[in-house]
Amino acid sequence: MNITWDAEKYTSDFSFVPQYGNRVAELIDAPSGSSVLDLGCGNGALTKVLQKKGYRVTGLDASKELLDIARRNYPEIEFVQGDAVNFALPEPVDVVFSNAVFHWVEKEKQPDMIKCVYKALKKNGQFVFEFGGCNNNRMIHSALAAAFQEYGFCYEMPFYFPTIGEYASLLEWEGFQVRYAVLFDRPTELQGENGMEEWIRMFIKRPFTVIQTEQEKEDIIRRTVKELRDSLYINGKWYADYVRIRMKTVRW
Ligand code: BEZ
Repeated sequence: MNITWDAEKYTSDFSFVPQYGNRVAELIDAPSGSSVLDLGCGNGALTKVLQKKGYRVTGLDASKELLDIARRNYPEIEFVQGDAVNFALPEPVDVVFSNAVFHWVEKEKQPDMIKCVYKALKKNGQFVFEFGGCNNNRMIHSALAAAFQEYGFCYEMPFYFPTIGEYASLLEWEGFQVRYAVLFDRPTELQGENGMEEWIRMFIKRPFTVIQTEQEKEDIIRRTVKELRDSLYINGKWYADYVRIRMKTVRW
């Protein structure tokens, strides 16, 4: 993962992230009592949803700050700290589930992560997930790149947003059979009049490390938001141009 989270603000102002994950959880086809790992569980909101569906759940996340919130809110659930690209479970599980996580994992590390998932699953176990797909937030990243360039900097895209074909190949190579795959637009309303600015501050951190002064950073954010107003500020509300890749796969 390539981010340090502002965990409290993420939980209070970006609750749409786990909320959208409810639809992904519906793809799990396993009897009540099945064991489910929520990979990159964050603040645990979706781990709780999975538990309410009757599954025996464990949440795994790298962020201590998010796990502190998860453990505080859901003390009845087991949460463990671990890295999605290098983890092992004491016992294999029936299902590995993940929402809005894999775009944070560098392309080069995706095979390591998929290998860990394979080892964590029982034979015929399900791997069900959604994350940012090809062209996710294209308008936002283009506007950021233009603003960086205007100030003499290069915007390095910090995410991995694959096509279905690319990701299916990785999964098949590591021993998964793809049963369902879809790539779809999901324009997502952001909170408040400063929604886009807040979104950029919450999620775009690493690219700004090359910016030399706070003033330049503020100018770049202001320039980006101004550029996006025509396309992503609609009837008094900000929207992010999300594209999702959602899959259900089975371990051979
Ligand atoms: C996503 O959920 O697709 C996402 C969220 C924040 C930054 C990048 C992608």
